[in-house]
Amino acid sequence: MQTLQINTPGQKSDIFIVDSRQLFQQFCSPHRTVIITDRNLYHLYNSDWADFHVIVIPSGEKSKNLRRVEKIYFQFLSAGVDRDWTILGWGGGVVCDITGFVASTYLRGLDCGFVATSLLAQVDASIGGKNGVNFANAKNLIGSINQPRFVICPQDVLDTLPQKHFINGMAEIIKTAAIGDRHLFSLISEKREAILNRQPEILQEIIYRTIRYKAQIVSRDARENNERRLLNFGHTIGHAIEILTGILHGHAIAIGMYWAAAIANRLAYLSKGEVTELQQLLIAYGLPTTTRINCDRLCDIIYKDKKRQGNTIRFIILKSIGRAEVITLTYPQLKELLYDLRLPN
Ligand SMILES: NC(=O)c1ccc[n+]([C@@H]2O[C@H](COP(=O)([O-])OP(=O)(O)OC[C@H]3O[C@@H](n4cnc5c(N)ncnc54)[C@H](O)[C@@H]3O)[C@@H](O)[C@H]2O)c1
Repeated sequence: MQTLQINTPGQKSDIFIVDSRQLFQQFCSPHRTVIITDRNLYHLYNSDWADFHVIVIPSGEKSKNLRRVEKIYFQFLSAGVDRDWTILGWGGGVVCDITGFVASTYLRGLDCGFVATSLLAQVDASIGGKNGVNFANAKNLIGSINQPRFVICPQDVLDTLPQKHFINGMAEIIKTAAIGDRHLFSLISEKREAILNRQPEILQEIIYRTIRYKAQIVSRDARENNERRLLNFGHTIGHAIEILTGILHGHAIAIGMYWAAAIANRLAYLSKGEVTELQQLLIAYGLPTTTRINCDRLCDIIYKDKKRQGNTIRFIILKSIGRAEVITLTYPQLKELLYDLRLPN
């Protein structure tokens, strides 16, 4: 077992990278815990939850909305959830985001924890306390920042994760490597085959390094006033692509990272060679680096991004592989840079 911790003002979150999911029983009592999960995971794991109250939501991004949140509040009411209960999200990023949000709003905040089951949830969505739902065609527009008491990242659940979702999670690992961990970048370049075959030791090592990087940043800047912004590398463009095309989060972020790297090159921050290096790594993991999209529509969605302030947007660029920086672009500047990339449409 490997452990990490996030310490933010007034909150502490313990993270456990473990072999077996059964650890969750040590953190919550059956009669005062609601497990929130999705349909796929319910079918796979419900035998672990005898005596627990379980709420099942439809799988996938379409569940991340206020209508689903309201339904869950009603289910809490009928289960008699009070302030002594724990809300446990058992699933991928969608389940973690919704669970974190309902737990931080119902009765003005309940105890919350996660069993993160997708690679993406283990290395990113369950870590750092951001939660929320999509609203009015914008990603995660409604939400809060509230650290879960515990996050369990069991390696045994990854056995049932479909390969396309495994690859989806690799995008956030590559993101971490690109913005802050050159060694991790080399590791995932060199050990591609072992990682794609889910060889346990190497997998656990890259999961640990990725979580450790995020945990350190969140501990220093939980509310994203400063360096936490770096974690948004690829997300300004990626979120807009995700909304417009409906492709998986990690796939959209992969395209967002490559386009952001190309923009960094255009602005003379990043060498052409390193743009290519990033692109080749994404492709080596079966991630896309481009998509057919209408540039005007893309820009319209980006305009709604949470990171926009008036007419400017904070944009994350790479200065080299392993080193990122936040720059400010005006919205027309970003639009022009995107047009310059000559995206197919
Ligand atoms: N809050 C954050 O900081 C943060 C960070 C990154 C991403 N996110 C959000 O995370 C979401 C994407 O997460 P995701 O890719 O995990 O999506 P997801 O939760 O939809 O899971 C992907 C699919 O894999 C299935 N699945 C998950 N674990 C499984 C397992 N062990 N075995 C079998 N099937 C399994 C799910 O049922 C689902 O069908 C997006 O909504 C994104 O916005 C949030």
